[in-house]
Amino acid sequence: MTFQEQILQGIPAELPLKKESIQNPNPAPKRKDILSKEEKQLAIRNALRYFPKKWHSELSLEFAEELKSFGRIYMHRFKPTYDLYARPIEMYPAKSKQAAGIMLMIQNNLDPAVAQHPEELITYGGNGAVFQNWAQYLITMQYLATMTDEQTLHMYSGHPMGLFPSSKEAPRVVVTNGMMVPNYSQQDDWEKFNALGVTQYGQMTAGSFMYIGPQGIVHGTTITVMNAFRKILKSTENPAGKIFLTSGLGGMSGAQPKAGNIAGCITICAEVNAKAAIKRHEQGWVDVLIDSIDELVKRVKIAQENSEVVSIAFIGNIVEVWERFDTENIFIHVGSDQTSLHNPWSGGYYPAGLSYEESNDLIRNNPEKFKIHVRASLVRQANSINNHAAKGTYFFDYGNAFLLEASRAGANVFAENNIDFKYPSYVQDILGPMCFDYGFGPFRWVCTSGKSEDLDKTDAIAMEVLSEIMMNSPKEIQLQMQDNITWIKNAKTNKLVVGSQARILYADAEGRAKIAEAFNNAIAKGEIGAVVLGRDHHDVSGTDSPYRETSNIYDGSKFTADMAIHNVIGDSFRGATWVSIHNGGGVGWGEVINGGFGMLLDGTKDAERRLKSMLFYDVNNGIARRSWARNDEALFAIKREMQRRPDLKVTLPNIVEDTILKDLF
Ligand SMILES: NC(=O)c1ccc[n+]([C@@H]2O[C@H](COP(=O)([O-])OP(=O)(O)OC[C@H]3O[C@@H](n4cnc5c(N)ncnc54)[C@H](O)[C@@H]3O)[C@@H](O)[C@H]2O)c1
Repeated sequence: MTFQEQILQGIPAELPLKKESIQNPNPAPKRKDILSKEEKQLAIRNALRYFPKKWHSELSLEFAEELKSFGRIYMHRFKPTYDLYARPIEMYPAKSKQAAGIMLMIQNNLDPAVAQHPEELITYGGNGAVFQNWAQYLITMQYLATMTDEQTLHMYSGHPMGLFPSSKEAPRVVVTNGMMVPNYSQQDDWEKFNALGVTQYGQMTAGSFMYIGPQGIVHGTTITVMNAFRKILKSTENPAGKIFLTSGLGGMSGAQPKAGNIAGCITICAEVNAKAAIKRHEQGWVDVLIDSIDELVKRVKIAQENSEVVSIAFIGNIVEVWERFDTENIFIHVGSDQTSLHNPWSGGYYPAGLSYEESNDLIRNNPEKFKIHVRASLVRQANSINNHAAKGTYFFDYGNAFLLEASRAGANVFAENNIDFKYPSYVQDILGPMCFDYGFGPFRWVCTSGKSEDLDKTDAIAMEVLSEIMMNSPKEIQLQMQDNITWIKNAKTNKLVVGSQARILYADAEGRAKIAEAFNNAIAKGEIGAVVLGRDHHDVSGTDSPYRETSNIYDGSKFTADMAIHNVIGDSFRGATWVSIHNGGGVGWGEVINGGFGMLLDGTKDAERRLKSMLFYDVNNGIARRSWARNDEALFAIKREMQRRPDLKVTLPNIVEDTILKDLF
């Protein structure tokens, strides 16, 4: 059977042979055994719904075995035999080009070069699922291959509920992931309902088919490091020879040295796991490997004297570096931490004073003792950071729960009011006010031809459009514009493409729409093939998350999720090709509501009308909310947008003088 025939048949007519062994170089962790006997029966009953009765007795045994071995029913037998990767769009059997674009993006998210646990349909973050099982994948692809532009596929947490009649103007796919009645969003609720096969954790771009590999994280980290230096340096100074000290060379944290090099500073990144450090060095993501603290001190002093731009991986504990640099009086300009403190007790954070192996041994054999070490180490680390901060170091939390866990360990990290932390998070201080409030966020696109020449052409188009916009940009956003132009200029050289021919670029509402319009014109002229537009959910409007994306909202509304819901509804009737809304993602189940979109540009006038309408709303919804929260930068941005588009009318806040409130209560 050809690839096209396999897609069109959905669930195969003949029961595929059982896979005797699964080639799985990176299996997903075994999930919690949380279901009662009756619930396990329900999980099997649920799984068998996808198949004809005549297969039930055979499959029931196999699915029961999967549930026992993995804690989930992945239906491994039904994984297709063809390779999974983003093929050129014409390769997909389809009546709707929009649907073919979605098939391409789904396969990209399951490509073993892109996905973390491809056999279990997990794209990233350990549990970021595209589907719960292979039956859902097969049926979804079949629906997409047969649907028209007057139907919409509704997907409930990976399950394709069905094709419903709609219209050309409606999205082709509506995705929800992990949406729960609010009281059922505890960690164990996910374990239970995912095991039952009725929900999944879509992370951000996993369950919405918009993940594009590590490129996104490098760009975001570069912007963060660059702006951190800007906060503390004079306009005449540059970061060369100045130190950024941090930790972690893992999944996301591994982007830090590369980002530091692009930002132009000395990056020192401590990593306790020698294998992780060596891997990043081999990949060319970090320049120098050092495993002795004395040698590190010597090398750093040389780098400072020569005003070098260099990244150094220190194989050892971050606490050791903070403490030694304090006694050596090595001045750290910018400091952060990217150990996995969202998971402190099972290997996310390795305490000082123990070797990597000793820690792993304690985690297995004496978890309570391990916790004591972690807490003591966090207190030591925070004390040392406080010493550096007293000398002028700018420290920020990188959304990894460092300050939260340090505070729980009893470290001195609270501000004078004993409520807030004494150090800001990266969104509170950097990404929020400097990017999101102005509308700058991680816009992205994928060239559906699969040709790298198309990506080069889109890079050139985007650079030209941004350069033109920058000529008339107000001073408030000149720096952002320049950063994004620099990024796109060097994007190819930075060699970040993994999987589909994709690019990420921070841009505001004006930039996103003008770039997209220019792409659409180039497609119409036959200069490039169709393009899929999208963005990370970690953006201006798509995500309500009180300790991350909306952590710089100070009117008390950061615990509400109206913005994300409006965004998905608003995008859906303004022309998105597909929309998604998820519970969980990044910071955890129940901690965030996040959404995104995808839009296929095919060079038509319809696509032009849609992109203008949808991209404008997709960014300005969030700016409006941020300005209503009295954020200065958002107030500036929304007023400017209202001038640009007189049919935009946003309710603006009146600012109350402190003196009015002072003696009221
Ligand atoms: N990069 C971002 O934009 C971003 C945004 C939000 C949150 N985060 C958070 O950053 C954290 C890191 O993410 P990741 O994907 O890199 O995780 P990861 O687990 O893959 O990597 C963390 C690394 O830290 C190392 N480590 C642990 N303790 C250490 C210590 N004391 N000294 C030196 N090294 C130590 C580990 O060996 C590991 O390699 C997570 O908590 C994540 O949620 C990152």
